[in-house]
Amino acid sequence: MTHPSTNKWQSHKLVIASQNKGKIIEIADLLVPLGFVVSSAADYTAVEPEETEDTFEGNALIKSRFVRGETQLAALADDSGLVIPALGGEPGVYSARWAENGDFGIAMAKVQARLTADMDTSAYFVCALAFIDSDGKESVFTGTCHGHIQFPARGLSGFGYDPIFVPNGETRTFGEMPYVEKKQYSHRSHAFKQFQEFLLAS
Ligand code: IMP
Repeated sequence: MTHPSTNKWQSHKLVIASQNKGKIIEIADLLVPLGFVVSSAADYTAVEPEETEDTFEGNALIKSRFVRGETQLAALADDSGLVIPALGGEPGVYSARWAENGDFGIAMAKVQARLTADMDTSAYFVCALAFIDSDGKESVFTGTCHGHIQFPARGLSGFGYDPIFVPNGETRTFGEMPYVEKKQYSHRSHAFKQFQEFLLAS
C-alpha cells in the first residue's frame, strides 16, 4: 500500500543504517508503505562506526552520517536504550554493551545488582531516529516510553530488557506482551510516528 500524500518519497532510495536483521525488517515495514525503496547498510558494507557520543541522538547521527558517506543515498539510523534515573541514567547509551556476548541475562543481572530495594525503580526507554535526506539535510526524532523496573524477569517475548520493564498503565512486562501490544507503548513507535508525520508534511 502506498500512502497517497507521500509522493515526494515515492521511489526514493533509503538505506537503513543497521546490520541488525530484526531491526531492518521492522524499519523497512514502516517505510515501504510510504513509497521508499529500502536497502540496508549490510548491502554495502560490513563496517559499523564506533558509537562515541553520550546521547542517543548523537549516536544515531554517527550511524546515519556514516552510511550516507558510504552510499550517497538517504539514510536512516536508530539508537535506543534503557535509562534508569536512580542509576544516574545507566545503562543508557551503553544498554547493548551491558550484555556481554549479547547475553541480556547478564545485563539484567547488572541492573538488579545496582538497583537496591530502597531505590526508585522508575525507568524509560528512548529511541532516537536520525534521517539524512538525499540532499544531505539532517533531522532527528526522539521517542520515549516511561515505566518501571521489576524483578524477577517475566515473559519470553521481545528482546533486551523487555522482561524487567513494565510500561506505565500496565502490570505486565514488555516480555509478557505480544509485539502488537508492545508497539502501542514503545519508544520506537513514538519516534517513528514523528518521523512519519515529518515525511507526510514535507
Ligand atoms: P542499539 O542497537 O545500539 O540501538 O542498542 C539498543 C539496545 O537497547 C538493545 O540492545 C537493548 O539492550 C536496548 N533496547 C532498546 N530498545 C529496547 C526494547 O524495546 N526492549 C528491550 N530492550 C531495548
